Amino acid sequence: MSGHGSNYVPKNKVAAWVDSRLPIFSLMNDQLNAFPTPKNLNYWYTFGGILTFMLVVQIITGVVLVMHYTPHTDYAFASIEHIMRDVNSGWLLRYIHMNGASMFFIAVYIHIFRGLYYGSYKEPREVLWILGVVILLLMMATAFMGYVLPWGQMSFWGATVITNLFSAIPLVGESVVTWLWGGFNVDNPTLNRFFSLHYLLPFAIAGVVVLHIWALHVPGNNNPLGIDVKDPKQDAVPFHPYYTVKDAFALVVFVIVFAFFVFYMPNYMGHPDNYVEANPLVTPAHIVPEWYFLPFYAILRAVPDKLGGVLLMFGAIAVLFIVPWLDTSKVRSATFRPIYKQFFWLLVIDCIVLGYVGSRPAEGVWIIIGRIATAYYFLHFLVIMPLVGLMETPRPRPKSIAEAVLAKAKSKGEGGAAAQPAE
Ligand code: HEM
Repeated sequence: MSGHGSNYVPKNKVAAWVDSRLPIFSLMNDQLNAFPTPKNLNYWYTFGGILTFMLVVQIITGVVLVMHYTPHTDYAFASIEHIMRDVNSGWLLRYIHMNGASMFFIAVYIHIFRGLYYGSYKEPREVLWILGVVILLLMMATAFMGYVLPWGQMSFWGATVITNLFSAIPLVGESVVTWLWGGFNVDNPTLNRFFSLHYLLPFAIAGVVVLHIWALHVPGNNNPLGIDVKDPKQDAVPFHPYYTVKDAFALVVFVIVFAFFVFYMPNYMGHPDNYVEANPLVTPAHIVPEWYFLPFYAILRAVPDKLGGVLLMFGAIAVLFIVPWLDTSKVRSATFRPIYKQFFWLLVIDCIVLGYVGSRPAEGVWIIIGRIATAYYFLHFLVIMPLVGLMETPRPRPKSIAEAVLAKAKSKGEGGAAAQPAE
């Protein structure tokens, strides 16, 4: 991702002067404008751009919210109500930030499953994938700490349950929890450090996103066929205008859905108990995390032993780091993998089941379903992925992206040599 070796010369003289000293314009041109991109990317490939947009939205709305928020247990809840009622458009800012977190997770889960379907984690994109998992972890930490800031009942009790998990660490567990809390309870020091980290981490995410895109631009994008670009002239198109326009269209559709939540059902994805101020003396009937943590919460509760549950929950993310080595298939895209494709959809269903189980009280049939779904989650990655890769016979792949695109156009009677004259 360096401007060195670029043939680009800015037309504007001032820009050319700057560029010869700091090749920022050639870098932008090479990476965002002329970058050769496979010509067959579908709409699942627009979520990276959508995620970048969401990160910017969260940072901007967050910075403005902080201008009116007070990170103190005596004032935090009231300062949120002040934002909602007194600050000009404060309700809008808060609802964008609040629902923005959910939309961010919807986008990131789609982005991850897209990667799993098209085998985008496979050689040579392992580092790109690992950086993605690092981003996911940072996003989870950020969202968890952000949820504590309004100092509602779920903020307090969610923070208490999750931080308490660290007490399961043998020998040092209790000390670790006291250290995390900054005291002997979730209290003002806890709120303060969570606030500080909630402000800091999004900038760390932005840094890792730069590395993520850098690692993407070394081999270039994978694509739905999972085959390499052989001849850039035939198989690829410049990023601009082809994908800037496609990404912009998808972003507009995404923002319409986002706006629907913000304006018509802003509290749908939240929990009503968080509109009750935190009270350490009253425990809510059911302590549930935000929806995007529910599958992990179900995994945590699937094991009767606390340490076992914690290890499994972290294991559910840790396993993602080694996915590039668990998948033994020589073929990237599930499009040509008839058996893996079915297991992929089973995994999607399994994650939805886990999410639902996480929202139910840990009793009766939910415990059993939770255990089966948890076992299947690990089975998928640790057993099915390596075995199917070895045993399955993939379908034949097209020789090139251009060939596949032209064949598709031919079958639809569009473009290329196969075009029929209009009558
Ligand atoms: C803030 C969060 C993230 C941002 C802003 C981001 C950004 C992007 C962008 C702009 C692209 C290229 C466009 C696209 O393929 O959609 C991309 C590709 C990719 N991302 Fe992310 N990403 C994020 C999180 C993640 C996570 C959590 C993972 C996986 C755990 C991940 C894995 C990948 C992979 C494998 C590709 C290459 C896809 C391909 O070429 O087929 N990303 N990302």
